[in-house]
Amino acid sequence: MALNLLFGGYVSRIRINDRDPSIAAFWRVATAHAGELCDFIETVELSVDEWHRQRAIYQDSNTNLLARACATFYLNRTNRSGIIKSGGIIGGLDQTGKWKIDARFNRGDLAQRVRRIADKSSQIEVTDLDALDFLETLPRERLLCYLDPPYYRKASELYANFYLPSDHAAVAQAVHGLSCPWIVSYDNTQEIRRLYSDFSDIRYDLRYTARKRYEGKEIMFFSPGLKVPEIEVARTPEASEEADVRRFKAPPQIKRRDVKEALLEVGAAVSL
Ligand SMILES: C[S@@+](CC[C@H](N)C(=O)[O-])C[C@H]1O[C@@H](n2cnc3c(N)ncnc32)[C@H](O)[C@@H]1O
Repeated sequence: MALNLLFGGYVSRIRINDRDPSIAAFWRVATAHAGELCDFIETVELSVDEWHRQRAIYQDSNTNLLARACATFYLNRTNRSGIIKSGGIIGGLDQTGKWKIDARFNRGDLAQRVRRIADKSSQIEVTDLDALDFLETLPRERLLCYLDPPYYRKASELYANFYLPSDHAAVAQAVHGLSCPWIVSYDNTQEIRRLYSDFSDIRYDLRYTARKRYEGKEIMFFSPGLKVPEIEVARTPEASEEADVRRFKAPPQIKRRDVKEALLEVGAAVSL
C-alpha cells in the first residue's frame, strides 16, 4: 500500500518495516541492489532442484544479504500462496499439479516491478524493527501509518515471525495511542474485532468465486476522522492453489487492487 501511495504521488516518502530479516533483506536489495536482483529474476532456473537450493540458502543463517533476498523472493514466487515458510512448491515436488513452479514467476513483469521500486529508492527507507519499536520511531510530521500485522489465525504456519494473542493486544494498545491517522488490516476474527471495536472497519475478500458467497475474511480498521471509501463487498472462493494462481493471472471482478485503489482515496483524504 505504501508503494502504491508513493507511485501515485500521494506521498513523498515511505518507510517499509518488517521484523523478519529475510523480508527486510528483500526490500533492502530491491531498493539498493536492484540490478543484481533483476539479473537473478531474469536468469534463475525454475526447477525443483533450484527450489531446494534456494530453500537451503533461505534457511542458512550465514547467507549474505543479496543471496538471502533472492532466495526469499524465489520462495515467495514459487511457493503456494506465496507462503515462504511452509507453502510448499506450486505443482508439488513431482510437478504434477495443474499449475507448475513458474506459474507466478513472470520474469519480465517481476523485474520491471523491482526496477520501478528502485527508481524511487531515495524516497524509501527500510527497517526491520519490532512493530512496537517501529511505532515509537514515527516522526511527528504529517503521515499515514499502515499496519498489516501477522494474521491472527494460522500465523505460526505462515510467517517466520508470528504473534501470540498478547502481541496482537499490545499492538492494538499502541495503535490506540497513535496520534497520526492509521489503517490496520487483519484476518476477520472475533478476537481482532474485539481489540479494535472502538474503530470503524470494512470487511472484504482478496478472493472471488461465482459459486459461493462469503462474508469478508479480511478486515481493515481506520483511525477516527479518516474518510472511509465505499467498497463493494467481494466474494471469495475456497483457498486453493488453483484459485490463488487464477487470482494472480486473471484478476476477478472484485479484487485486491480495488481495495488498494479505494485506499488511495484514503491517502488523498488525509491530504498526504
Ligand atoms: C500479513 S504480513 C504483511 C505483508 C505485507 N503487508 C505485504 O503486503 O507484503 C505480516 C508481516 O509481519 C511481519 N512481522 C511478524 N512479527 C513482526 C513484528 N514483531 N514486528 C514487525 N513485523 C513483524 C511478518 O514477517 C510478516 O511479513
